[in-house]
Amino acid sequence: MRGLKGKVAVVTGGAQGLGHAVAQRLSEEGCNVWILDLKQDGEKAAIAIQSESGNPVYFARIDISNESQVEKVFLKIGELSGRVDILVNNAAHFIFKGIEATPQDWKSILDVNIIGTSLVTQHCVPLMKKAGAGAIINLSSVSGFIGQSSFATYNATKFAIRGLTKCWAIDLSPYRIRVNSVCPGYIRTEAFDNSCIQLGLDIEEENTRISKLHILGRQGHPEEVAGTVAFMASDDASFITGEDLMVDGGYLAK
Ligand SMILES: NC(=O)c1ccc[n+]([C@@H]2O[C@H](COP(=O)([O-])OP(=O)(O)OC[C@H]3O[C@@H](n4cnc5c(N)ncnc54)[C@H](O)[C@@H]3O)[C@@H](O)[C@H]2O)c1
Repeated sequence: MRGLKGKVAVVTGGAQGLGHAVAQRLSEEGCNVWILDLKQDGEKAAIAIQSESGNPVYFARIDISNESQVEKVFLKIGELSGRVDILVNNAAHFIFKGIEATPQDWKSILDVNIIGTSLVTQHCVPLMKKAGAGAIINLSSVSGFIGQSSFATYNATKFAIRGLTKCWAIDLSPYRIRVNSVCPGYIRTEAFDNSCIQLGLDIEEENTRISKLHILGRQGHPEEVAGTVAFMASDDASFITGEDLMVDGGYLAK
């Protein structure tokens, strides 16, 4: 893809799942990648990706909802990398509750998915302005378009991500920063297995049921989302901003 080589990319939640696949793909495309994640496993992931691609991959253990940690890590990124060209807001907290959601449920999911994502973006933008241009890709979901039973807490945040995307696309356009969201269907990651456990569902039965909801008859693979994120970050997407791009195997088309 055009325009990725030598770029500095920050991927939140890159220790596993979609974020890991995105970090790997951007690194293969020649980016210098920063993985920001709560999980210490991110360090191993960074070392493994770097040894395959040969490009620098850094890891910082932070909670994106902790403002002072976010501020410090972007100071460090500024010192070591000098700028940021690409930000992938991928980290998310998963709480699946309906009308019974407590104020604590709401606070804990909003703290990470909305406030955390906003803090990361706020502290990243000065480094993108330094770069003279940038691309921000926010992970929304098919859950940002439709209602799903017992998913109110999660879906509210995925709808909100699309709102943030459109507002930031307007606000950041004077700095040549494009902002888009990528919206996957079901992708088989740990989050899927964990959501089944949270909802008391049999994982394999649920996989079979969910697969049929996609025109392609299966869940997606993290690499399929990573390719789309890399495209949105690249110069091949230079006239795309404020957009929601589905990577959903036809889930919403049915
Ligand atoms: N897996 C799917 O089916 C699917 C579908 C649509 C959208 N998405 C979106 O893709 C993104 C990634 O999903 P996933 O399935 O890879 O999830 P995952 O749970 O496998 O990975 C999420 C990562 O984010 C990190 N994280 C969570 N809270 C954090 C915090 N406060 N600070 C820093 N890091 C934190 C976790 O440690 C983890 O490494 C999410 O935004 C999710 O909403 C996933």
